[in-house]
Amino acid sequence: MEKYVITGGNPLVGEVEIGGAKNAALAILAASIMTDETVTIENVPDVRDTNVMLQAMESIGVQIIRVDRHTYRINGSRIHNQVILNEGIKKIRASYYLIGALLGKYKNAEVPLPGGCNLGTRAIDQHIKGFRSLGASVNVRHGSVVAHAQSLKGSHIFMDKVSVGATINVIMAAVMAEGKTVIENAAKEPHVVDLANFLNSMGANIKGAGTDVIRINGVQSLHKTEYMIIPDQIEAGTYLMAAAATRGDITVKNVIPKHLECIYAKLSEIGCQVEESDDAVRVVATKRLGNTQVKTLPYPGFPTDMQPQMTVLLGIAQGISIVTESIFDNRFKYVDELTRMGSDIKVEGNTAIITGVERYSGAEIASPDLRAGAALVIAALTAEGESVVTDIQYIQRGYEDFHLKLKKLGGNIEIIDTPDEEESPKDAAFRSVVS
Ligand code: EPZ
Repeated sequence: MEKYVITGGNPLVGEVEIGGAKNAALAILAASIMTDETVTIENVPDVRDTNVMLQAMESIGVQIIRVDRHTYRINGSRIHNQVILNEGIKKIRASYYLIGALLGKYKNAEVPLPGGCNLGTRAIDQHIKGFRSLGASVNVRHGSVVAHAQSLKGSHIFMDKVSVGATINVIMAAVMAEGKTVIENAAKEPHVVDLANFLNSMGANIKGAGTDVIRINGVQSLHKTEYMIIPDQIEAGTYLMAAAATRGDITVKNVIPKHLECIYAKLSEIGCQVEESDDAVRVVATKRLGNTQVKTLPYPGFPTDMQPQMTVLLGIAQGISIVTESIFDNRFKYVDELTRMGSDIKVEGNTAIITGVERYSGAEIASPDLRAGAALVIAALTAEGESVVTDIQYIQRGYEDFHLKLKKLGGNIEIIDTPDEEESPKDAAFRSVVS
């Protein structure tokens, strides 16, 4: 099993090129099958989640040509059925985007749902509510969502809560429905906007993406396009946090600074120097940082996917900080691992009360999920002594060349592969399902 071996203490200094946004890519790859013409997509990150999605698409007959590491040519004209049997697809949460794409194009879809997940409950009731509003019958049978419609008709849908996945899925189901669809209380994340822009480049008629009311006029069909995915705001934010935590100086390049504002505003508040230019943001930290309060919120609030990284940073800042997780009901599991490194954090429900310590100490720690794993790597890079980070397959789901980029910035990090220790079937099953 692969692990990271990290010796802390080096400030991270230099420039890092940010890749395509994983959470935009997963939606856009699924949506690319909604035309029978060929779609070219650039800036697809080479991470486990996108590769799992591509394999699932190929399993139903989608023709995929990999032009280069980050560019694909995709043609969905030969999809032979809408039943996804690919075992791997259960490993990613975003498998459900294939429901919206297949239902929107073929009015039929059967896609396995991922099992439990390590961020707490991950319901799909809002996705199902949206599909049913459009006229589909939707049932969950033998672990799969089965959706079917004679025809899909535009509808006025009020989301009961802000959901990135449900907003994206309903957009895909509605783009070729008859008539007008309105989605109220829609998610406004950059990847929702990217998906809408992608579909509009294929001839869809979507207005208002990025606001909480999205209006869609159904069209007859979609056509070919060439599209470049936006940069990953969370990958970029993770490296900015690493600069702050290691008292370093990092410039993230190929970014959209506007998408990072909610992240670097907090870093500036606790004492970092922040410089913004057209497609780059630089963070410099020369002294111990101060405390603050953070509450995760839907975009443009502080992103939940940056919550573990911020908690790690505040864990070695001066004073007492509060981090409140308002999106997921169990996203502080990594604090147990951070405690092993000497942190002083008390979790009360969905709030972490953080008393900053001078420095973490190296330890063996396990990644509970993608973002928490990246946060624990940051903790290890600042810690006194050596750390070993296990279960790094979670981190590799969403961070391309993570250890290589950190090494280039001066981090003392190596990847080693050791024979799998004995693990119980339960642990193996749990480990195989990711958020
Ligand atoms: C997306 O997950 C991202 N994943 C997550 O990133 C991200 O944390 C999340 O949005 C919030 O920004 C992808 O885009 C693949 P939600 P998603 O639907 O769509 C509840 C990462 O690290 N909810 O916005 O699943 C849900 O349980 C991952 O890249 C319902 O109750 O998130 C959660 O508490 C982790 N019913 C809240 O809403 C529903 O039908 C927000 O979930 C749907 C969601």
